Amino acid sequence: MMQSFFITSSGTHIGKTLVTAALCWQLRERGKKVMAMKPLITGYDTNDAQSDTALILQSCELPYTQAMVEAISPWRYAAPLAPNMAAAKEKKPQVELEELCSFCQGGGGDYTVVEGIGGVMSPINDRHTVLDWMEALSWPVILVAGSYLGSISHALTAWEALRARRIAVKAVVVSESASGDVPLPDTASTLEKFLLGKVPVVTIPRLAASGELWKQVPPMSFI
Ligand SMILES: Nc1ncnc2c1ncn2[C@@H]1O[C@H](COP(=O)(O)OP(=O)(O)OP(=O)(O)O)[C@@H](O)[C@H]1O
Ligand SMILES: [Mg+2]
Repeated sequence: MMQSFFITSSGTHIGKTLVTAALCWQLRERGKKVMAMKPLITGYDTNDAQSDTALILQSCELPYTQAMVEAISPWRYAAPLAPNMAAAKEKKPQVELEELCSFCQGGGGDYTVVEGIGGVMSPINDRHTVLDWMEALSWPVILVAGSYLGSISHALTAWEALRARRIAVKAVVVSESASGDVPLPDTASTLEKFLLGKVPVVTIPRLAASGELWKQVPPMSFI
């Protein structure tokens, strides 16, 4: 049976793509067939080899071709804005929640891994946020948090928002922030205390910024 996961985070630029790419890599190393997607992307530049779409394809050892981009990221906007604003600025149609969900549900293989966009309540159009997207899919989500000062409040706020919609959280992944102002293990153990052992809290240390970062991520044994 196919398993599906949705990767979300407490905010933008926290580590969703790193976690998505690491999951693809690790599952494929275990011999699993993985369909990974970043269905909705803003700030997209075809020539940027580090875009979320490009990195996800790389982690699945797929070529970076126009056809592959279409296949995993059909809704692309150039403006580095929330999708509703990017669509308005570019005079393009907004993504419809139903179409987005149908696309996500169309994956095959053993695992479907979808990277969301922004944080848990980033708007995807003028009527819906990522929370509505996750609720509609009702897949288990992986919540990615940081370890910067303030990240615990952001993570717990995201957790409460998910809980209010009865969205199941498979794991919280704390990806060490660049700031390094709060120790990673302390962030994880504090989150564990407040989450009362309801979900595994795992950590990714700050990795050396060289090449294929996802290959350095410790095994994500919760999957
Ligand atoms: N543990 C880590 N070690 C090293 N670099 C990291 C780590 N976590 C995240 N990064 C880096 O921080 C940046 C943001 O991470 P990433 O792109 O995964 O975030 P995101 O949540 O997907 O962002 P977006 O909202 O733009 O999709 C990237 O350059 C990524 O390589
Ligand atoms: Mg990303």
